[in-house]
This record gives sequence, structure tokens and C-alpha cells, in this order.
Amino acid sequence: MDERQIINKLTEMLEPKRLRHSIRVMECAKRLARLHNADEDKAAIAGLLHDCAKGFSGSELILRSKEYEIELDEISLCQRGLIHGPLGARVANDIFGIDDLDILSAIEYHTYGKRDMKLLEMIVYLADLIEPGRTFEGVDELRALALEDLQGALLKALDNTIKLVIARGGLIHPNTLEARNSIILNKKKL
Ligand SMILES: [Fe+2]
Ligand SMILES: [Fe+2]
Repeated sequence: MDERQIINKLTEMLEPKRLRHSIRVMECAKRLARLHNADEDKAAIAGLLHDCAKGFSGSELILRSKEYEIELDEISLCQRGLIHGPLGARVANDIFGIDDLDILSAIEYHTYGKRDMKLLEMIVYLADLIEPGRTFEGVDELRALALEDLQGALLKALDNTIKLVIARGGLIHPNTLEARNSIILNKKKL
């Protein structure tokens, strides 16, 4: 499927607002890829499809995860919003015919991150947060940092997420902590 065909299919699966967000994430991911010497085409597709499973209801998320034999941890079962990452990767493969592992893993981990995130994973995670439609406090600093220092921006974004989840009394996915800690550990090794 090319970009146009993907957008047409997504129109059937996502609310217009979510689709517009996905298109902005695509543009933002492409820009970050250009700046940080990543594959722009892969960044664009991953950005466009990152939320392809976001239109499913809570029960559909569980049902479809079972169909794809995705093992759901107890935190994802409790905070079902997290499931659209791993499920989205399977949907991107099954429905959109994407078989590139870099793209699939950027979609899979865009919700809670992972240890030692790779370039495309970092780009999609950040593009999702800093696309022009986002308005949270500190977003402009994060945007500026992402242009210069992808790892630094990712660390800041993960720190923000962890603080926010704690403030709300929510559960922190272990992947998010591992993503954060691995950046700091890798810096110390340099
Ligand atoms: Fe998402
Ligand atoms: Fe998103």
C-alpha cells in the first residue's frame, strides 16, 4: 500500500481527529528522520500507522489481541489504552501489509517505550508527542530539543510521562522505566 491507500483505509478505521493527528505525526517523523539521518520513508509510514489500532474499543482491544496471540501484561490489561501499540504493529502487518521490522517495532513501542530504543522507535515516540497539535506545558522546549538531541528529548519525554502518571496515581509500565534508565546508563558508558 502506498501513502494514499493507507490514508484511505485509515479513514474507515479512525475518527477524523485521530487521522489528522496521524498525518501530523507522519510529517513530524519525516522531518526528524531527515534531521537525524534515519530513513524518511520508514518514519513516514510508521508515523502514519502508529495509532492504527486506536479506534478499537476496550473489549475489541482484548479480543483482537487474543486473535493475534499477543501476550498482555497485567499493566496493559489494567490500562487498556496501552494495548494499541502492540496490537497496532500486528494490524499494520496484517491489514496494511507492512513487513518491515523497524516500522513494526516503532509502532509496537510508541506507547510505553522499551530498553535501548532504536532510531526509528525514538523518532515515532517523540513525533507522537511533539506534532504541532500538541499543546502541553513544555512542548516547545521538547520540540526544540528533539531537533538537536534525540536521546535528550526522549529522556525528557519519558521523565515527563513518568511524573505525570505518578501524579495521576496510575501504573508505570516497566518498559517506560527501562527506556529511561537505559538512556542514562548508555550515557555513563560513553
Ligand atoms: Fe498512540
Ligand atoms: Fe498518537
